[in-house]
Amino acid sequence: MASEIEISPSLLAADFSRLGEDVKAVEEAGADSLHLDLMDGRYVPNLSFGPPVVEAVRKHTALPFDAHLMTEEPESYIEALAPHCRTMWVHPEACKHVHRVLQAIRGAGMRSGVALNPGTPPDALLYLGTVLDSVLIMSVNPGFGGQEFLPEVLPKITQVAELATLFDHPVEIAVDGGVTAETAPRVVEAGATTLIAGSAVFKNPDGLKAAVEELRGAARMAGARWA
Ligand code: DX5
Ligand code: ZN
Repeated sequence: MASEIEISPSLLAADFSRLGEDVKAVEEAGADSLHLDLMDGRYVPNLSFGPPVVEAVRKHTALPFDAHLMTEEPESYIEALAPHCRTMWVHPEACKHVHRVLQAIRGAGMRSGVALNPGTPPDALLYLGTVLDSVLIMSVNPGFGGQEFLPEVLPKITQVAELATLFDHPVEIAVDGGVTAETAPRVVEAGATTLIAGSAVFKNPDGLKAAVEELRGAARMAGARWA
């Protein structure tokens, strides 16, 4: 029997005028972790929030924090994020020396992760197996919440899950962008172990608890072949 799929709501879709209340509510709704999208307006054409906001919301929940760096030179945020975050994903295109950055993330006590854009091939992961704990596969182009899921990413999820079996330690396969109760079964069937969802959780008209349960139900329905 496959282990449970992790449900990770993205703070980007929360109400920015009441983040403290929203993170508390999403924890009570049964989320497993909180996804944090840091954007610098350079790597992606949008600005979101930085380490001071991460530090502020840290006080309102015990959920593990997983930071997705959509910034140039993401290594410059390692020190500020390490006390608060469990995972830090970086985009290889934003790093001059991605292997060294992953080593530094682990050295700071976090799980190291690589994020792959829809157009980035899984080959980017080759030779990183010894320094890599998690892969985030983007199923939309990075920068904005609420975009439509790109089904052409599904075969890549399976390729990455297969590649990860060659590593000598477990690797998380997280999928980010347009994940809903409708798309989740295909994502899990393809090999995802973690579902990241912004709009489908925070903007669900049925509320946060129903949203988390819907995603969990959809994931269970699919079964997790690779978990
Ligand atoms: C997009 C971010 C995602 C975003 C997902 O650049 O990386 O984490 O919050 O939002 P939805 O689930 O609305 O596509
Ligand atoms: Zn993200």
